[in-house]
Amino acid sequence: MKKCKVAVIGFGQRGYTYVEMLRNTAGAELVALCDSDLKRAAAFAKELNVENIPCYASVEELIANADFDAAVITTPDFMHREGAIACCNAGKSIMLEKPMAPTAGECRDIINACLKNKCVIQIGFVLRNHPVFRRVIEVARSGVLGQILNITSTEHIGVMHGASYMRRWHRKLANSGGFILAKCSHDIDIISTVANSKATRVASFGSLDYFTEDKLKYNYCSECPDKDCRYRFAGEFVRMTPDEKANHSAKPFDLCVYNKDKELVDHEVAIIDFANGIKASFTLNLFAKVPKRTICVAGTEGILYADTAEECIHIHYSNGKEYERIECKADNDSGHGGSDQTFLDDFIDCVINDRPSEVDYMAGLSSTVIGNAIEKARLTNKVVEIPAESYQL
Ligand SMILES: NC(=O)c1ccc[n+]([C@@H]2O[C@H](COP(=O)([O-])OP(=O)(O)OC[C@H]3O[C@@H](n4cnc5c(N)ncnc54)[C@H](O)[C@@H]3O)[C@@H](O)[C@H]2O)c1
Repeated sequence: MKKCKVAVIGFGQRGYTYVEMLRNTAGAELVALCDSDLKRAAAFAKELNVENIPCYASVEELIANADFDAAVITTPDFMHREGAIACCNAGKSIMLEKPMAPTAGECRDIINACLKNKCVIQIGFVLRNHPVFRRVIEVARSGVLGQILNITSTEHIGVMHGASYMRRWHRKLANSGGFILAKCSHDIDIISTVANSKATRVASFGSLDYFTEDKLKYNYCSECPDKDCRYRFAGEFVRMTPDEKANHSAKPFDLCVYNKDKELVDHEVAIIDFANGIKASFTLNLFAKVPKRTICVAGTEGILYADTAEECIHIHYSNGKEYERIECKADNDSGHGGSDQTFLDDFIDCVINDRPSEVDYMAGLSSTVIGNAIEKARLTNKVVEIPAESYQL
């Protein structure tokens, strides 16, 4: 069978994961790389034994010189539009990382290019394939819970993972659209998929109450004498090249988490009202010892509780049916509970068979529309209505 020739655009932290997986993905062949920082890309290519794969400094150069069918786009969120449109206009299929883009306008531009050129597009909501969430969606859709009324969802991010956002490009609103969109667009997507409806209004409270600048002493950990600081940078959640590690040149990765140059929250709650009457809540926490996501789906006939750390689902029926416990274990050791690999496999299958992905541009647009509305609600302290036209192209 003909293999799908793949290029990875943005060979940073997430791109590294894809390059690693693509080396062993049936049906796919990694044929080109692209990153604006060729020096770092070369170091990562060496680490992964893919130095023989040509690497281009821009998407334009990649398109002009490489022969590929599909691109995996793992540039920062604010660069998604540019790379995605260029690839679509060149007739390439795209697997575009989440969030689709920081604004709905950028999402629509990508969608228009995609539709005009009839490209396959998949948005990186890998949690759709997570063993726990896959079963949650199946159970919710099966009807055994009766009429679903409420969804309660949480993301508890590990201590150093949460802190890493205070240091990286996500910390500026224009780069990511805010914390909820940057990190929790996954959760918005899962909640919307379980609700199987469009959000019509949202409210949110969130603020930065711990990583505050009054605690700032030195701009970088490498300048700071406080060796006991819980957030002292030790290379977590940043992919550094061997040179960067060996020279201890942690700057700028070790920016103090209490820096002044950020527009993030460190805790937030949001509530969402859906057109079909389902009400959902979402809570974000950045200080977890055991990182996990949880979801509770409450219907008239039963309640489902799921926890990614526990890798199982509990269903308590209110109609006399016996309690059910469903084990949801990963079938491979890739990231996000094994969903990184199966999600990539799904994309390759869509490209080879020229069929649309289940996680297509509407999932991307909806998540950005809701994420933007939540951020607006938080900033204005108001309930934000989401008109039906917001979801139109
Ligand atoms: N699905 C998931 O669970 C998941 C997990 C992590 C990250 N992500 C997403 O992946 C994307 C990348 O995140 P990251 O943490 O890897 O960021 P990163 O900063 O580590 O990597 C981005 C890379 O893109 C390169 N780049 C920037 N502009 C470019 C351009 N115009 N052309 C070519 N290369 C360019 C940078 O040099 C860098 O190497 C983001 O959208 C992020 O939200 C998704």
